[in-house]
Parts: sequence; C-alpha cells; structure tokens
Amino acid sequence: MAKHKNNKKQSKTDHDDLGSYGILAQYWRLISGCWTYAGDERKRVVQYYVMFILANAIFMTQPYVLGELINALQAGGDEILKQSLFWLTLYVLGTFGFWLFHGPGRCIERMTAYTIKKNFNLKFYDYITRLPLHWHHDHHSGATINRVNKAANALSGFAETQFIYLQSIVRFTGVFVGLAFIDVYVSLALFVISCLIFYLLTYFDKIIMRLNHRINEREHVFSAALFDYVSNIQNVIMFNLSQTTEKHLSGAIQSWWAPFARAVVLVEWKWFLMSMLIVLSHFLVLYLYIAHHMKIGAGEVLALGTVVAIFQYMLRLDGVFAAVAQKYADLVQTHTNVYAVGNIVKSFEDIGIRDDHLPVLKVKKGEIHYDHISFAYKKAAAVFSGFDLNIGARQKIGIIGRSGAGKSTLVNLLLRFYEAPDCRITIDGQDIREISTKSLREHIAVIPQDTTLFEDTLMENIRFGKLDATDKDVIAAAKKANCHDFIMETTEGYNSMVGERGVKLSGGQRQRIAIARAILKAAPILVLDEATSALDTESEQLIQESLEKLMEGRTVIAIAHRLSTIAHMDRLVVLDAGKIAEDGTHRSLLKKDGLYAQLWKKQSGGFITIEQPEEDAAPKKKAKKKRAGKK
Ligand SMILES: Nc1ncnc2c1ncn2[C@@H]1O[C@H](COP(=O)(O)OP(=O)(O)OP(=O)(O)O)[C@@H](O)[C@H]1O
Ligand SMILES: [Mg+2]
Repeated sequence: MAKHKNNKKQSKTDHDDLGSYGILAQYWRLISGCWTYAGDERKRVVQYYVMFILANAIFMTQPYVLGELINALQAGGDEILKQSLFWLTLYVLGTFGFWLFHGPGRCIERMTAYTIKKNFNLKFYDYITRLPLHWHHDHHSGATINRVNKAANALSGFAETQFIYLQSIVRFTGVFVGLAFIDVYVSLALFVISCLIFYLLTYFDKIIMRLNHRINEREHVFSAALFDYVSNIQNVIMFNLSQTTEKHLSGAIQSWWAPFARAVVLVEWKWFLMSMLIVLSHFLVLYLYIAHHMKIGAGEVLALGTVVAIFQYMLRLDGVFAAVAQKYADLVQTHTNVYAVGNIVKSFEDIGIRDDHLPVLKVKKGEIHYDHISFAYKKAAAVFSGFDLNIGARQKIGIIGRSGAGKSTLVNLLLRFYEAPDCRITIDGQDIREISTKSLREHIAVIPQDTTLFEDTLMENIRFGKLDATDKDVIAAAKKANCHDFIMETTEGYNSMVGERGVKLSGGQRQRIAIARAILKAAPILVLDEATSALDTESEQLIQESLEKLMEGRTVIAIAHRLSTIAHMDRLVVLDAGKIAEDGTHRSLLKKDGLYAQLWKKQSGGFITIEQPEEDAAPKKKAKKKRAGKK
C-alpha cells in the first residue's frame, strides 16, 4: 500500500509540471515527440503535412464555387448553361482534388504512426532496462507498464490523427481568406466572434482538463493496486484476501467518481454554449452582410449566391469549432499521457546506465578486490563502511553470515546492480566503474538467491545463459545441472512452458534451471547466492558435483547458510554487520572456535570435527555410485 501512495505523489508531481504548458506549447511538444520517434520516416511526416495542406486548401474553394454557380443562375442570360457546367465541374474537381491528397496522406500518416509507436515502445524498454535496480525497487512495475502503454497509445493516437489539427488550421484560415474576397468587414466580424468562441472553449476545457488529471492520477493508483494483487494472486488466495483487496479496489475506483461526474456535466454545458454562440454568429454575420448590401440600385437584387457562399464558409467554420472542442481536451489528455513518462526519461538521464562506450572488461586471472568500500541503500543505514576484501586468482571463497549481514549486497555491488560511485571494486586491476556494465556482466555467471523464469519454454529459459547455444548444448547443461530428468517428465519436455515467472516449477527445479544457465554461460567468475538452498539433500549432492566441475579454473564467490555446501572451499569469510569477522579455511576457523565454529556446531548437531567436509563428501560418492549403477 505504501508503494501506491508513493505513486500517487509521483504522478501528481508529473502532472503539476505538465499543467504549466500552454495549449500551443503542448501541441508543439506532441509534434516534436512524433518527429523524434518517427526516426527514419521523418520524410514521410513532411510529406503528409504538405498533402493535408493542399487537400484542405482545395476543399476551401468549394463554398466560393457554389456561390458563383448560384450567382450565375440568378443573373440568367444566354451563357447560363455554359457557366453552370463550368462551376459544377469545378465543384466536383474540388472534392476529387481533396481526396487526391487526403487519401494517400492518411495512409502515410497512419503507417508512420505505427512506426512512432514501435520506436517509442522500444526506446522506453531500453530506458527501463538501463535503469539501475534500485530505481525498479522504488517504482511499481505495474504503474510503469501502465504509464508506458498509455503514453505509446496516446502518442500514436495523436500521430495518426494529426490531419484533424492541420485540417482545422487550414480551414480556419481558409474561411477568413475566402470571406475577405466577398466582404472584408464580414470576414473581420466573423474573426472576432470566432476568437470569443475559442476563448469560451478553452475556459471550459481548462477546468475539464484539471478534472481529467485528477481522474488520471487515481486511475494510476487503481492500476498499480490491481497489478499488485494479480501478480500476488497466490497470497490473495492463500490469505483469503479477495474481499479486502476487492474493497480496496472498489475504493480506488470510487475515488475518481466526484471529478468524473463534474467533468461529465461541464462537457454538456460546454457543447450547449458552443452551439448557441455558433448559431448567434450565423445570425450576426448574415444580418451584417444583408444590412451592408441593402442599399442597392433600383431593379437590382441581393446576390443570393454570395449569401450561400458566406453560409457555406460558416458551416465549414462550425466544423472547425466542433473539431477543436473535441480535440482540445483530447490534446491535453494526450499530452498528459505522453509526458507522464517524463519521470522515466529524467531518471534515465540522471542515473541510467549509458556506458557502452567504455572499455570492455578483460579477465585473465579473475582477481577481485573490494577496495575500502562504503555503501548504504538509499536512506538506510550503511551496510559497509571501509570494507576490504581481496579474492585471489581462481580462488573459491565461501561467504557466511547472518541474514542481513550484507552477503547479497556484496555480490550486487560486484555486478553493479546499485549505483555506488564511492565503491572501488576491481577485477584484474580494472575498476568496474570504468568498464561497460554489459561486458562486466558477460564475465560473471550468477545463480541468484531467488530465480524467476521468463514465460517461455524450458529450452529457451536455459538458453538465456548463452543465446547462441545449440539445443544440444542446452540439453548437456541441463543434464549436468540435474534438470534433464524432471524436464523429460513434463508433457512436452524441453518445449514445456514454465508459466508466468516460472510458477509451474518448484523452487528447487527453478534453481536447477538457474544452475544450467550458469553452466552454459561458463563465465570466468561465478557467483552462487544460496544456489542450492531450495534443493533436497540428494539433489543438492548430485548438483554439487556439477557445481564443483563448473568451479574448476574459475573465481567463485559462494554464499550459503548451509555450511556443509561451502566448507570445502579454498577460503571462508564470515561477515558480521558489514565487517569481516573471520577469514580462513574450514579447519582454521574450527580451530579458532569463533562464530564459524559456533554455526558449524549448531548445524552439525553439536559435533565438531575438522574432517567434516571430507566426510561430507562421502554421501556424494555414494550418490555417484548409485547413479552409475542406474546407468
Ligand atoms: N534494496 C534494498 N533497499 C534497502 N535496504 C536493503 C535492500 N536490500 C537489502 N537491504 C538491507 O541491506 C542489508 C544487507 O542485505 P543483504 O541482502 O545483503 O543481506 P544478506 O546477508 O544477503 O541476507 P540473507 O542471508 O537474508 O540473504 C539488510 O539490512 C537489508 O535489509
Ligand atoms: Mg542474501
């Protein structure tokens, strides 16, 4: 729940910033957004802009042509048939000319919008994957997905309906230019009334827009909560939380009722006043024209065609008002949705990982040096202060310590999962802050404390360890990680889907998949964070052999609570409250009779022996024999 409140605060800040842009600035920002994400297809944007301007310029000749036709009919005479044919042909050509440019322009516009949406989504996916882990811990993934989705849809929606905005601008200008040909005063009068109508429109829409912001914020809170409950569905069912969560969701939906109801009523008021003002503008303009041209000579009549032309221009202007009234609120909403992802861009600019240009890591020996590092998670107490640790070339080091001692943090810092500008950690003398993160992670294989899988097949999930591995390599790695048997028992073998985040597999099975990935990756540095904690003793012993083979010739950092799994390592380091409490081999630490010896005593039922690791290897040998016997 705390996270949802956080989101609320965060979205409010975004919206407040966005509210400071005027409508024209918002329109301009959206156009530049389209321009940015159109990428290689920018030429097409220019192309359809020109096409829409031409289409609508042609379209705006029609009232004039219609007026001239009626005037010709009213004047009568011998030429009447020829004249009618001429003006009627122009009238038809007006519509044809419009479609000649509008149709292809729309096709290009919509296809470009597709590209804009694609580029936008890919760009944001790139931003998100380059943001450090702590950013992801501070931001709800449901809310982030919702924001990016909404923004991509809004921008592509704007991109594929730009013709409406352009059409309105050209037609609006066209009305006054056309009318000026007929009567400059009428044109000016209509311009003044139009400005009044626009003022009213924006006045209402500003209020509606603020209400929409409020609705939007509350929708974000609702989506985040829904995502949280659905992704934690097991907890919801297990703890019988469906009623409580439903109540919370219902409260979240209810929270946007008040602004929603107000906006609904205001929208109707806006349309009513708009319609009345428009009809009054018809009245005024036509009356003005008639009054202005009343004093005509004897035997002359008011040119009816001109009155029709004026009326036709006004009808087209009504269309512009309707489009603007419709699109003003849309534009503001679109701008809000598109730029609500501003926090992601800003975070990326501030803390995003953009180090592809840095040199790549070269690992020859695999020496790791933590050089007097100090680190604290944001706003939390320091986990390390002045911590030193040297891990020799191809040394296998076991890290032991109470929960919360900082073991995972140690490897997270090595992998640069967290921003730690003050942490100097070197691998073969190269400071990891000065090499590309991508190359750093290529050289480290991790079997994490908690393995989640992609919603894909077992085969692909293992292949993530090495993307170019063949099926044969994957199966060989799976066999070594003791996965093969359980995979073959599934209905579709390696092609079985694992379910969302791997929920269809047991914790131990997921861990073995992670081990198979690491075997496939074969990186020079290996990190095992409780790699076998979810396995039963027999499986663990079987895998231990594979892991030992995997460890050969590599630098290994293995974290474990179950000491028997790491007791045989070259060196054991006991961490306590971010400091090295003990450092030595299993034997030397037992002799020392300190923290390690106490832990060992507890885990081995009070029986201390320095030979324990070797004895511990005995069941492994038995298991090996058993397996060999099976074959
Ligand atoms: N993302 C985080 N934000 C804030 N504090 C954190 C975060 N991750 C860990 N911590 C804190 O840092 C300290 C060290 O955590 P760490 O995960 O390194 O412990 P650990 O030794 O791996 O414990 P365990 O054996 O339970 O896995 C703990 O006090 C923990 O609460
Ligand atoms: Mg841990």
